[in-house]
Amino acid sequence: MTDTLNVQLDDRSYPIYFNQDDSTLKATIHDLNQVNQACFLITDSKLHGLYQAYIESLGIPQTHVYIVPEGEPSKSVEQYEKILSFLASHSANRDAVIFAFGGGVIGDLAGFVAASYLRGINFYQIPTSLLAMVDSSVGGKTGINLPEGKNLVGAFWQPQAVFINQRFLETLPKNQFASGIAEVIKYGLIADKSFFNKLLSIENLNFDEPTLPSIIRRCCEIKAEVVANDEKEIANANGRALLNLGHTFGHAIENVAGYGDYLHGEAIAVGIHLACMLSEITYPTFSKTDTEQTTQLLVRNGLPILLKKPLSIKALNQAISRDKKNRASGIRFVLMETSGNAQTKEGIDEKIINTLWKKVGAVD
Ligand SMILES: NC(=O)c1ccc[n+]([C@@H]2O[C@H](COP(=O)([O-])OP(=O)(O)OC[C@H]3O[C@@H](n4cnc5c(N)ncnc54)[C@H](O)[C@@H]3O)[C@@H](O)[C@H]2O)c1
Repeated sequence: MTDTLNVQLDDRSYPIYFNQDDSTLKATIHDLNQVNQACFLITDSKLHGLYQAYIESLGIPQTHVYIVPEGEPSKSVEQYEKILSFLASHSANRDAVIFAFGGGVIGDLAGFVAASYLRGINFYQIPTSLLAMVDSSVGGKTGINLPEGKNLVGAFWQPQAVFINQRFLETLPKNQFASGIAEVIKYGLIADKSFFNKLLSIENLNFDEPTLPSIIRRCCEIKAEVVANDEKEIANANGRALLNLGHTFGHAIENVAGYGDYLHGEAIAVGIHLACMLSEITYPTFSKTDTEQTTQLLVRNGLPILLKKPLSIKALNQAISRDKKNRASGIRFVLMETSGNAQTKEGIDEKIINTLWKKVGAVD
């Protein structure tokens, strides 16, 4: 039976379908075909290689499938333009619909194409990576990177539905699975201490972990609630920005290391470690034990808590100050007041940040 969660956003509300047998997805495509709404599918080369037969079974014409090279470099102006031209060359009109079949890269790229082609067409998310299932496919942030930084161009554009099918995780490489776990741990820290404790109690969190469906669902519930309260991240404090736990540090690490050295979740894992240490300094209610439990959980799941090689503190701080999450009021960090209860915090002294960078292996 299909398990459904609704993301409540007035006229932009939509369902997330969990672990269904594809019947809802196929029925959706069938219905669109019936009323002549042209369906297009965007995926990457790796997923196309693995799931060509599956993609063919969905009922979307093969000439409407667009394949980008796998990996973060495809979240580019170049690929974005190519897909727009592909749609235009197929005379896609405003009733055309896009299906994003892939990880966060495909969801963000295809979503931004949908947000901007003919001033916006409908799109659906079919996430295939753990990160995309628990995070990027929900909430409507779409976008691409510029050489100057990640996600600098984009739009808020909600999907019509998200179809989560955990069976895709069977082929997900272990390090990519771990990358998704960094986001899973994030949800526990920001919003749900008992969920965090549950994660702590699982020795080996793999794709065949029996409680994985409930873990994925809990992450989507937390994300849906946060997004419903602050869809466009405009709240002055807390709000959607809480989902950025570890990301201010993590994006700086990705940026300075050069994209490709760290998987997204790996950089976020180091960022979460830093955020824990900063929380300890800022709030006496967040203890050393809280940090230790978090690092233990990260390490146990194959994630780094220290930089893989030394990076310059100056360059990291410059990257932080360029981060698009900054507001006029300054650099905003997400910290835990207690484990399971995060707050946004501004006005942190740079000297403290420098000390913390050193603790994870950065250098002057
Ligand atoms: N929009 C948001 O709210 C949001 C949130 C978090 C992250 N993101 C973005 O998501 C991106 C990272 O997402 P990602 O980690 O999914 O990266 P990704 O899309 O590059 O996928 C990672 C790798 O795994 C492969 N892969 C995906 N699913 C697979 C499967 N089932 N079997 C085998 N291989 C599979 C892909 O081909 C790719 O090589 C980043 O660009 C990040 O900025 C967006």
